[in-house]
Amino acid sequence: MKVSSRTKLLAGASLLTALTFTPVAYAEDASVSVRKMADAIFSVIEADRAVYTQKVVHRLQNEEEVITAEEKWKEESALPLPAQMLRMGAERVAEKRSGFTYALLSSWAINKQNSPKTDLEKKALKTIEQSKQNFYGVETLGKKKYYTAVYPDIAVSKACVDCHNDHLDSPRKDFKIGETMGGLVIRIPLDE
Ligand code: HEC
Repeated sequence: MKVSSRTKLLAGASLLTALTFTPVAYAEDASVSVRKMADAIFSVIEADRAVYTQKVVHRLQNEEEVITAEEKWKEESALPLPAQMLRMGAERVAEKRSGFTYALLSSWAINKQNSPKTDLEKKALKTIEQSKQNFYGVETLGKKKYYTAVYPDIAVSKACVDCHNDHLDSPRKDFKIGETMGGLVIRIPLDE
């Protein structure tokens, strides 16, 4: 019988729970740093985007040639582009008005909605374009303080650079593989 890694994990976890069970009162006090929280959220968004790109778009469009992904996906009964999927998810989260938001931005955005707006966003994008390292900062917007993390979005394949370089609305036409094309901005409201 094949034992899934999840079954093994749960078996291990229940053994651990038996040894180190934490009562609820203490569990409520447990905390995690805001940077770790941002990094965890990023890993989920990034994984969903990669899975959609590889297992849906690339498989159905490039391998099985069943359907294409198009910017005007509604009109053309096609699949949305990965960046559009990400934006639609981000818009749903923003509707909840929790203060927590995320967005894929770029200094050379095809969709002007994805241009940097706050001073921190502009500075972060300039920094990650050079360093390709995550950028972390705190900013005050209105009266509220936010922890803002920005993760570089790299041109990992020829498809990224070709589509952006050829796009009519792209202000930049010379992207190369390996370059930073933009950044995923995650903004977490801080407690007063
Ligand atoms: C078939 C065309 C196409 C491909 C392939 C593509 N993109 Fe895009 N990308 C777009 C379009 C169109 C948008 C604007 C989507 C929107 O409406 O928000 C976009 C948005 C973005 C943005 C947000 C800024 C902007 O330009 O609006 C980044 C960053 C980005 N793409 C990076 C990438 C990376 C990295 C890859 C490869 C992993 C990639 N793109 C592949 C067409 C494409």
